[in-house]
Amino acid sequence: MKIDLAVLGRQYECRAAAYEEAALRALRSGWYILGPELAAFEEEFAAYTGARYAVGLNSGQDALTLSLRALGISAGDEVIVPANTYIATVLAVTENGATPVFVEPDAYYNLDTSRIEAAVTARTRAIMPVHLYGQAAQMPAVMEIAARHALAVVEDCAQSHGAHFGGMMTGRFGNLGCFSFYPTKNLGAFGDAGAVVTDDAVLAEKIRMLRNYGSREKYHNEICGVNSRLDEIQAALLRVKLKHLPALTAERREIAAQYLAGIHNECIILPQLRDGAEHVYHQFVVRTAMRGHFKAYLKEHGIETVIHYPIPPHLAACYGSLGHGRGSFPLAEQYADEVLSLPMFNGMRSDEITYVIETVNAYCP
Ligand SMILES: Cc1ncc(COP(=O)(O)O)c(C=O)c1O
Repeated sequence: MKIDLAVLGRQYECRAAAYEEAALRALRSGWYILGPELAAFEEEFAAYTGARYAVGLNSGQDALTLSLRALGISAGDEVIVPANTYIATVLAVTENGATPVFVEPDAYYNLDTSRIEAAVTARTRAIMPVHLYGQAAQMPAVMEIAARHALAVVEDCAQSHGAHFGGMMTGRFGNLGCFSFYPTKNLGAFGDAGAVVTDDAVLAEKIRMLRNYGSREKYHNEICGVNSRLDEIQAALLRVKLKHLPALTAERREIAAQYLAGIHNECIILPQLRDGAEHVYHQFVVRTAMRGHFKAYLKEHGIETVIHYPIPPHLAACYGSLGHGRGSFPLAEQYADEVLSLPMFNGMRSDEITYVIETVNAYCP
């Protein structure tokens, strides 16, 4: 059997008629940027998260970058980021000229909140927790530390659509919640897209301006902005998928439940679940010290896996100038050496799930 990490076409096939109708509606409207589809999606996504405002953008990267910009974070400022994250979180800091300060992960792959305070300095302006792989970070502790030091909180929810901590949805704890709708994401568009949610009217308005060349009114550029708009076709398609997001999330959880109940192999460490933190399984990530061998074995048996992520940001070539050598963040480095994502996607068939479980269980290095 051949199984890819994700087969995105299956989601489309399940509701092809609805997606095609939405795309055609947008095409036939004759209005392609900042129109009624985006306005409706922003309203519907805000309602889904419970936030007062949602602002559609070109990508999750822009959501993070423009959130920090709207908070006025710039050169000379420090922002606390997880050492174990996708590099986009860190790029948002450096794109604004600020300095990322890395904090080691916990056993759940998220920011270890017991280490945050040691990273706070007089220059710290914000904390950026990431709900990595879809499991909510320990937000009550993050918020408590942020309040004590008067820091802003920008949540990276690129992988956590709909995940709650203690009954509150990720993206709703901090000043701003940043979402990616990259096609592989739990709420994935059919191209690049992203959004910010917030309850703060001033921040929402600032991001609306930043995404449109810094203008509220055409050709009246009040601040220096960028072009980062979620287009009408993607907005129309996202409106279709958003309606089904609770069902899509339940399906991912069901696949994960089968993996968790079915995989028994003492060489493989399964994801751990934190009390109070929901997991929406953007990725199902296992760990083993024999990662290279295990990955090759799965490939031989037709199972594609991906490493999220092989190089922690502090060791990325582009951040050489930050001066963090190997050994600076040993836990993040260990995870980078050991993690492996198993196939997880909407529309995964039960024979495929069973095959992955049986193949993993038969692994004997
Ligand atoms: C944790 C994290 N943050 C940010 C991003 C950036 O999102 P996008 O690809 O939409 O720019 C991604 C996804 O790629 C991500 O996984």
